[in-house]
Amino acid sequence: MDWGMANRMGRVMGRDGRCFFLAMDHGYFLGPTRRLERPSLIVDTVGQHADALFVTRGVARSAVAPSSQIPIILRVSGGSSILGDITNEAITTSVEEAIRLDAAAVGVSVFIGSDNEHATLMNLAEMVNDCERYGIPVMAVTAVGKELEKRDARYLALACRIAAELGARVVKTYWCEEFEKVTESCPVPVVIAGGPVTDSEIEVFRFVHDGIQRGAVGVNLGRNVWQNDHPIAMAKALRAIVHDSMSPEDALEVFESERISESSR
Ligand code: 5RP
Repeated sequence: MDWGMANRMGRVMGRDGRCFFLAMDHGYFLGPTRRLERPSLIVDTVGQHADALFVTRGVARSAVAPSSQIPIILRVSGGSSILGDITNEAITTSVEEAIRLDAAAVGVSVFIGSDNEHATLMNLAEMVNDCERYGIPVMAVTAVGKELEKRDARYLALACRIAAELGARVVKTYWCEEFEKVTESCPVPVVIAGGPVTDSEIEVFRFVHDGIQRGAVGVNLGRNVWQNDHPIAMAKALRAIVHDSMSPEDALEVFESERISESSR
């Protein structure tokens, strides 16, 4: 691996090879998502607990201070909204813009099994061709759109493997039962996305812990962090699972004690 590529990978992965990415890119198709209406509030509070922020260029420019030391992973695909067909994406942001913003990596969605499978895979391939030239890692986002039921090991293993074969340096996917089937057949690091908010915090801690035990290197979580009433407590508890291999039960204790001290401040 070239020095630049290795350096950028090192910026987003902790020294332990694990990572907690805070996903804040949702506005690119959801608009002013609940509790992400003012992204700067999340960046300034929860952001410092993350290893990297997954953002669009609009949020990077408007919500992340140029003096910030937190690496950014730049979302570079999009072009549709929740009102239309969200699988219909193109490359929205060039590699030159990623360099200009000093992005540590970029993220591209692929919608495997959708009508736009070919187009989105070509978006990924095109971005990999551009980014490899400059030593910028590409994170493939294996997206399922509204078809959340697609989240099983067979489908996700297929999606992750194809993304890695096309040159993604990291693949982001959903957690599922038998998650080792996804990680063991994917030759690059896999990170777990969260999806919609769960009924309880322990559910998130359980699937993140299970995913890490079964080979994921970390998480790229959004709504389950910043839509929680106590996002900083959530971030600290999740960090403990990712970086300290803490159990879900112990992470819940971290969450509860942080929540109480947050409320008394
Ligand atoms: C949205 C994304 C998000 O980054 C990803 O889904 C993680 O966020 P969440 O944990 O809220 O699902 O790619 O398109």
